[in-house]
Amino acid sequence: MQIVGPNHLHGSTNALEVALTDDVLVVHGGTPLEGRIRVRGAKNLVSKAMVAALLGDSPSRLFDVPRIRDVEVVRGLLGLHGVKVTDGDEDGELVFDPSNVESASTDQINVHAGSSRIPILFCGPLLHRLGHAFIPDLGGCHIGPRPIDFHLQALREFGATVDKTPEGLHLSAPNGLHGTKFALPYPSVGATEQVLLTAVMAEGVTELRNAAVEPEIIDLICILQKMGAIIKVHTDRVIEIQGVKKLHGYTHRPIPDRIEAASWAAAALATRGDVEVLGAQQADMMTFLNVFRSVGGEYEVTDARPPKLGDPGQEGGIRFWHPGGELNAVALETDVHPGFMTDWQQPLVVALTQARGLSIVHETVYEQRLGYTEALNTMGANIQVYRDCLGGTPCRFGRRNFKHSAVIAGPSKLHAADLVIPDLRAGFSHLIAALAAEGTSRVYGVDLINRGYEDFEKKLADLGAHVERP
Ligand code: EPZ
Repeated sequence: MQIVGPNHLHGSTNALEVALTDDVLVVHGGTPLEGRIRVRGAKNLVSKAMVAALLGDSPSRLFDVPRIRDVEVVRGLLGLHGVKVTDGDEDGELVFDPSNVESASTDQINVHAGSSRIPILFCGPLLHRLGHAFIPDLGGCHIGPRPIDFHLQALREFGATVDKTPEGLHLSAPNGLHGTKFALPYPSVGATEQVLLTAVMAEGVTELRNAAVEPEIIDLICILQKMGAIIKVHTDRVIEIQGVKKLHGYTHRPIPDRIEAASWAAAALATRGDVEVLGAQQADMMTFLNVFRSVGGEYEVTDARPPKLGDPGQEGGIRFWHPGGELNAVALETDVHPGFMTDWQQPLVVALTQARGLSIVHETVYEQRLGYTEALNTMGANIQVYRDCLGGTPCRFGRRNFKHSAVIAGPSKLHAADLVIPDLRAGFSHLIAALAAEGTSRVYGVDLINRGYEDFEKKLADLGAHVERP
């Protein structure tokens, strides 16, 4: 048996097979996905909103929180630091009571080492609340080196001292945290969030240049503003934060997960199906919708209508479908907002294997986010990866020997294979490929998908997919 997956898992697979037996999904492909599913709060906002609750001096309330692994990790870390996290009355509602924030031992915190990248965002809030912080080794997807140099540089500018030790990072702020002027070398999402979560309670004004302005960041700013922060978003990626002495709790309903919505849209297209994604929001997905239409997919936006007397109202969403006939090849480049998100890339590439002609994908956010195409090729796709910046403007990775451009020749008939999931988004693309392929695939390591896709197996069943646990 040959299992296709991350390089270190190639080869003889008996041991691997045994290790992964419990974590495999059998996918009988070739059936169009059809039906309606719902996405809840964005993973990449909800986890940060949870960290923000640490900054308040009264309880916060967050709605529409998906049941995913990243949320559990942050919930565990908050609990260790004395924040009482309880389920609210509404399904998906969490309540955070930060009135007894306290230090946790490094051993306790290290239980979460390697499980997520969110712990790095605890730096500012813990420094404000406790004067010190310990951050374990980070986890997250292996899609490049993912350094945290911008984060640490910014924290030092605020006056923090950072001590890197083999067990993790120890930070302190002996003289408090002070506003600063800082320009990011690249509009990093995480580093922008780091600056926001630190600057809101630092003494004085902070000016952040070259900030990321993803919708999830704007939503985090809305939360901080609800808590009492003063934050101005200027033009040209400049954010100005006036530090305040104290913040209170918030009540917030987060923006829906636009990565999950696009993943199901790509699944609909790749399987020649028809999927309505309730909760999907047009404004946050404009760039994706343009590409989806250029490829030949169709969509229809339904606006939400609030309930009124005698009218139950209507939840908004977007219906995505394959209209029949052939799909078109496209050239696209991933980029920071408002560009085409890097996280939309992997699911959409599966649909591009079905388009006639040569599609070009230039990945400019992460240097190693095309490795998953190897598995698609084993299933019959024809994808070549290149070190050059193809089809667009030169990017940071052009002269650095990273295979970060892909040419997809289609259409290709995909056939079933046994696959090992390498990371979250690539994992979902493997799943889509298995659903689109003729025959029965075994997808190993599917549990990884629970990090970012709530109830994905139930949603697959709701969409008529033929999948089963062996
Ligand atoms: C966030 O990661 C998301 N994760 C990612 O989603 C998403 O792909 C990414 O933003 C871009 O939109 C979360 O929100 C938890 P970055 P983040 O800092 O904040 C370089 C998913 O599957 N960089 O914007 O870690 C970095 O190496 C995940 O949901 C530095 O060089 O992304 C990368 O090339 C995957 N030094 C680029 O910036 C730093 O200190 C963008 O990273 C920080 C970043």
